[in-house]
Amino acid sequence: MPTEFSLPAVGDMPQLSIAKKLPKKADAIVIPVFQGEDGPEIATTGLFSSEDEVAILRALGALGATGKAQEITKLTAVADAELIVAVGLGDSAEFDAETLRRSAGVAARSLTGIKVAAFALGVFGLSDTVVGAALGAYSFRGQKTTKQPKAQRPVQEIVFISEKNDEFEQAQIIAESVAFARDLVNTASSHLYPESYAVIAANLAEKYGVATEILDDKQLAKKGFGGLTAVGQGSARGPRLLRLTYEAKKAEKHVALVGKGITFDTGGISIKPSANMDQMISDMGGSASVIAATIAAARLGLKVTVTATVPMAENMPDGLSYRPGDVITQYGGKTVEITNTDAEGRLVLADAMVRACEDKPDYLIDTATLTGAQLVALGARTTGVMGTELFRDRIAEIGREVGEPAWAMPIPEEMAEEMKSDVADLRNSGGSRFGGMMQAGYFLSEFVSDDIEWAHLDIAGPAYNTGGAFGYVPKRATGNPVRTLVATLQDIADKG
Ligand code: BES
Ligand code: ZN
Ligand code: ZN
Repeated sequence: MPTEFSLPAVGDMPQLSIAKKLPKKADAIVIPVFQGEDGPEIATTGLFSSEDEVAILRALGALGATGKAQEITKLTAVADAELIVAVGLGDSAEFDAETLRRSAGVAARSLTGIKVAAFALGVFGLSDTVVGAALGAYSFRGQKTTKQPKAQRPVQEIVFISEKNDEFEQAQIIAESVAFARDLVNTASSHLYPESYAVIAANLAEKYGVATEILDDKQLAKKGFGGLTAVGQGSARGPRLLRLTYEAKKAEKHVALVGKGITFDTGGISIKPSANMDQMISDMGGSASVIAATIAAARLGLKVTVTATVPMAENMPDGLSYRPGDVITQYGGKTVEITNTDAEGRLVLADAMVRACEDKPDYLIDTATLTGAQLVALGARTTGVMGTELFRDRIAEIGREVGEPAWAMPIPEEMAEEMKSDVADLRNSGGSRFGGMMQAGYFLSEFVSDDIEWAHLDIAGPAYNTGGAFGYVPKRATGNPVRTLVATLQDIADKG
């Protein structure tokens, strides 16, 4: 395997560890407070003497703290501590795992300039605290050459105060996997293109015992991957198909993952407007999450076999580009009339999904930054989930549980009409503006074998945060839906 490619930069993540007692080296202590009827209530036990608790509560009251979820109040010169950071957990009656992750994330984000922070939130859920804090602290500076002022530097080390440590390692693997997906998505297309991307992903996969295979542009054309070939042919950097296989020892089920890996989407000949086109570096978000989730499954030793089939291409306008009006033959033989070269994601996915189905998996999950219509229908943060009904609903619910909001969407029967062509089996963009996300879902459904449970996750909005940071989600790459995929693999390993 060639090793000549690497990411030019990765996000900073704090070093994470666990301790039973407050470490002396801590520069800040993060403590949880609930929102009581008469103001904030300290939610930890045993960390402070009762006198110190009184002093902390007085200071919080004087500063107007309420304890509402994600509220940050910093105290100095109380309870013998350099710095106490009180983070609100809200009303204890409404408290849930996502509140904890978000509050931990906001607290971690507020700790700029701090070297070592101790988090005393673990009693409410260690893994949620670890995931929220680590992902909140993640910070990507890319290729800035200026030194970051100390006061702006993200927290360097977090020690979680906890009696138990059984969940710690797993939570750390999850956080690292999300960070890896974020790093891939945050990397500019100047550095991440099909050839480099496939090698970088394969190198990490092999490090964790995942088997890899890369098909290049010549092999793809020869084997009949007509969608990937058409979309990739306008770029000087040819397409790739990456395959990852994690073969679990005692697996009863096999899950096939497919993720859209368009390393840059100009729209091609149906070119996109210039405004915000830079955001299309994120059009490989689906593939990044699939790669990260497969490696996570191996690292966690999940009892489920996972194969990832990842089409990678750059969609460019060029003398060699595919054109509107072209007819292509997808892998497996179905023909498609190209009515819009900007509807390229479904073409590369279709090839990959047919290939994935050849292995006869029990489940197929594909995820993609597929349609602007997803943002119109569900907003920037909620994934649209389509597919076979039970499996679709199961994944949407798992998404909501892990804090990656997801909602089941239908594929109404009239979508078939929208996607009919006069000269091919299908057309690649619909005949109307209505239900664009579901049109794409219908198109993909035509490439799934009948006996396979299938879910399609449209993450056009959720993969990339174009607004400000919130909770444990930074600007730019979010790492969504890595945690949904890993939790689904875990759920299938447990329940079948
Ligand atoms: N990559 C885009 C979808 C997208 C839009 C992702 C906004 C993230 C944010 C996709 O390839 C695309 O351009 N889809 C077209 C499809 C249309 C031509 C049928 C779209 O949504 O406009
Ligand atoms: Zn496009
Ligand atoms: Zn695209």
